[in-house]
Amino acid sequence: MRTTRRRFLENMTWMAAFAARNAHGRYPGGVSGKLLDTSALARFVDPLPIPASAKPSGLRPSPVDPKLQIPYYRMAIRQFQTTVHRDVPSTTFWGYDSSCPGPTIGARSGNPLLVEWVNELPHQHIFPIDHTLHGAEADKPEVRTVVHVHGGRTGPESDGYPEDWFVPGQSATSYYPNGQEAAALFYHDHAMGITRLNAVAGLMGLYVIRDEFEDGLNLPKGAYEIPLVIFDRSFQPDGQIHYPVSGKTGAPWVSEYYGSAILVNGKIFPYLEVEPRKYRLRLLNGSNGSFYQLSFSTDPSVTSTGLAFHQVGSEQGFLAAPAQMNLLILGPGERADVILDFSRQSGKEIYLRTNVAVIMQFRVSAKKAADSSTLPAMLRPVPRIQESTAVITRELTIADYQNRLGRSNVMLLNGAHWNMPVTERPMLNSTEIWSFINLTDDSHPIHLHLVRFQLLDRRPFDLAVYQLTKKIVLTGPAVELPAGDLGWKDTVRVDPMTITRIIVKFEGFAGKYVWHCHMLEHEDNEMMRPYIITESCPGRVA
Ligand code: C2O
Ligand code: CU
Repeated sequence: MRTTRRRFLENMTWMAAFAARNAHGRYPGGVSGKLLDTSALARFVDPLPIPASAKPSGLRPSPVDPKLQIPYYRMAIRQFQTTVHRDVPSTTFWGYDSSCPGPTIGARSGNPLLVEWVNELPHQHIFPIDHTLHGAEADKPEVRTVVHVHGGRTGPESDGYPEDWFVPGQSATSYYPNGQEAAALFYHDHAMGITRLNAVAGLMGLYVIRDEFEDGLNLPKGAYEIPLVIFDRSFQPDGQIHYPVSGKTGAPWVSEYYGSAILVNGKIFPYLEVEPRKYRLRLLNGSNGSFYQLSFSTDPSVTSTGLAFHQVGSEQGFLAAPAQMNLLILGPGERADVILDFSRQSGKEIYLRTNVAVIMQFRVSAKKAADSSTLPAMLRPVPRIQESTAVITRELTIADYQNRLGRSNVMLLNGAHWNMPVTERPMLNSTEIWSFINLTDDSHPIHLHLVRFQLLDRRPFDLAVYQLTKKIVLTGPAVELPAGDLGWKDTVRVDPMTITRIIVKFEGFAGKYVWHCHMLEHEDNEMMRPYIITESCPGRVA
């Protein structure tokens, strides 16, 4: 009894914390008076855009095996104008192939491809740069980009290391081997010290890997598989994206970004006409800092219980079996693969909502629809990695620190700044447990490049005792994990005053990668660390 209640309370406190935050749009730097009141916009007047499919512009020799010709994509990164809503003046965005979300790159597992990312951006940024942040000093060019395929098992030279940025007029070609299971990955900017600004400007797109196993599942496909890229933005009355500043001269960085409007595939309050049948929805939370509690309902208000749907996949692929649920929590960088059945909703309107707002509408046609797709009872087995196979457990803190200038917090992983010596040096093909000790009162979505991992548990601990003695005293049993957290992940929510343990096999490549918080304001202000996968001895740094 007691433990159930405590568990419930913990969940509630945590949910209430971010519900309140999202509801009021806490702008750490204070907000300038005049912003577009996006809640007053007409609802469901714009159709949901579906991102285009990226088309290769030819074949090129593989850098690994020059006898092999592989698809070559050229993706120009440009500034462009678009409309986020029928009644909002056009907005300047940055996007891959002049779109946000960018074109979806479709890959087959095991079939490599090349992308030449071409920086055709202007020389001036559309948001103020904070030159006090590491990597964004005044001697660095204002506009820089480097592209990372989030969740990709990519060699270090093509992974989009934050310092490998290139400027307008330059390009970089990346080789993606796609040696991994079917999953919805996403590509986005990763330039040191300005990722948050490049992302708010629009630099993201989906990268979907498919394989034979998926082909055999007979899930809804084609027009019945819909990507939903969700992110929030605020706008000025002239339609331009609003990004707040701290108010400190020369140091405009703010610690979080929460927009007043939640966009789906780049539109505010879009609608989608659907047939009364099953659909597969590929959801991505592409926000800088917002967590969403998503549900579907015939009721646009946010108090009723949502309709049942099935989650079939997490960040890195299929769950072992479909999990029925009516609420899905997605943090920045997290994805979910969901089957929603409209067959009993013929002629109705269904709403996608967060806990505080309605964000889009599905208009279910009254006509009968054929549906030969299935929701299989079992999906892909997810063999649990045994804790006993881990060669080391690393305890890694997540914390805010005030600096001497009294500036906003600097946020560190294990007390270390970006440019301090590399401390996490797992050996190639070894398994490790990383135990994240969250000393803050925020949830942080923690992402490791290259690898997929499993969440072991989330356990509450006594923060006060830890701060005094550096000893971990658990205050309750592990929190029950939602089904989506039992699949393969690459980004995990680390809740406040909680120890979150993941188990990771470092396979694929040796070399230098990064791990970081996917709240992009945090990432840009030191909450990111390099890590090195070593081929020889597991180097431990004292
Ligand atoms: Cu989604 Cu290091 O990134
Ligand atoms: Cu964070």
